[in-house]
Amino acid sequence: MRSSDVLVVGGGIIGLVTAWRAAQRGLRTAVADPDPGGGAARVAAGMLAAVTELHYGEETLLGLNLASARRYPDFVAELAEATGGAAAGSGHDVGYRACGTLAVALDADDRAHLRELHALQTRCGLTSEWLSGRECRRLEPMLAPGVRGGLRVDGDHQVDPRRLAAALLLACERAGVVFHRVLAERLTVAGDRARGVVLAGGEELTADQVVLAAGSLSGRLAGVPEEVLPPVRPVKGQVLRLRVPAAYAPFLSRTVRAVVRGSHVYLVPRENGELVVGATSEELGWDTTVTAGGVYELLRDAHELVPGITELPLTETRAGLRPASPDNAPLLGPTALPGLHLATGHYRNGVLLTPVTGDVMAEVLTTGTLPDEARPFTPRRFSPTPPVRQEQPA
Ligand code: GLY
Repeated sequence: MRSSDVLVVGGGIIGLVTAWRAAQRGLRTAVADPDPGGGAARVAAGMLAAVTELHYGEETLLGLNLASARRYPDFVAELAEATGGAAAGSGHDVGYRACGTLAVALDADDRAHLRELHALQTRCGLTSEWLSGRECRRLEPMLAPGVRGGLRVDGDHQVDPRRLAAALLLACERAGVVFHRVLAERLTVAGDRARGVVLAGGEELTADQVVLAAGSLSGRLAGVPEEVLPPVRPVKGQVLRLRVPAAYAPFLSRTVRAVVRGSHVYLVPRENGELVVGATSEELGWDTTVTAGGVYELLRDAHELVPGITELPLTETRAGLRPASPDNAPLLGPTALPGLHLATGHYRNGVLLTPVTGDVMAEVLTTGTLPDEARPFTPRRFSPTPPVRQEQPA
């Protein structure tokens, strides 16, 4: 298919969920990406941390995060159904684990930080419970004796982003999405509308509607008019993967996280024995080097939290790029250029926001209207305001 109803530029989890949902609504859908199923999801730990990653000033984003978290159980069930065969239970298991999260404090400053977070959560009507250090260790015996207290958040879960990407890819294929495994180099515009893209190699694809969902690369597609180019920048995150040998299991039973001397560290234990340790947060442009310093800091902080971690085999180190926007929230829906939509800028919450992004984008692509819950995330909030005309004195 060289011409489609919808063309999604970018085949990471956000592009894939958009394509899947659009195809389910009967739209002829194509995706352009040299490596669909890749992108930041290959690195991400997959925390669904609407409550523990709450930040001041992000209360509007919290609403969208919670809406997406609520959709997760049905979303993974539907994905399993869409990717299964005739036998019940044969669909993709994306590693959704309703295990909850424990955020802990190691010193007086961390404790004060966590108390502030607890107060903010309470003001926002969220459920979290303050625990003493001893209560934290009763829940997670591998925690360091120095843990001074923590917040138990039973509603923040996890999913395995790599499995999620693989499941979405298969679901798309089964729903009839056409994949062009080539880089989209340039948006084409005809008259006053987006018309499609030119692929590396020169081939042109056309579509009634184009969705730019290329993660941190979304601001770099040539041909996108300056005034609608998404203000998305890459924020590097280094992540480690370790393996918990069967003899050590259960090492941790839920996600454990902390702020250690100002830097965030989290440990996400999967049922298959993988333990993901993340993540640095570095404004270094397009650099994806795994550095000795990054690995050292993560291991140092994780070791302070859970000393036994040094016994585990280290299986993988990687760096990825979060697509950050100026207000840390995603850009969803139509731009000022007719026919061009955005689904990008998900920053720290791409995995969490995958279900709601799919629903929002399918709605806007089929009806032309952004659902109420997504209105605050219109890309138009970053459009330059038209200059006010000044009457010139005669
Ligand atoms: N949400 C986890 C991270 O951005 O590192």
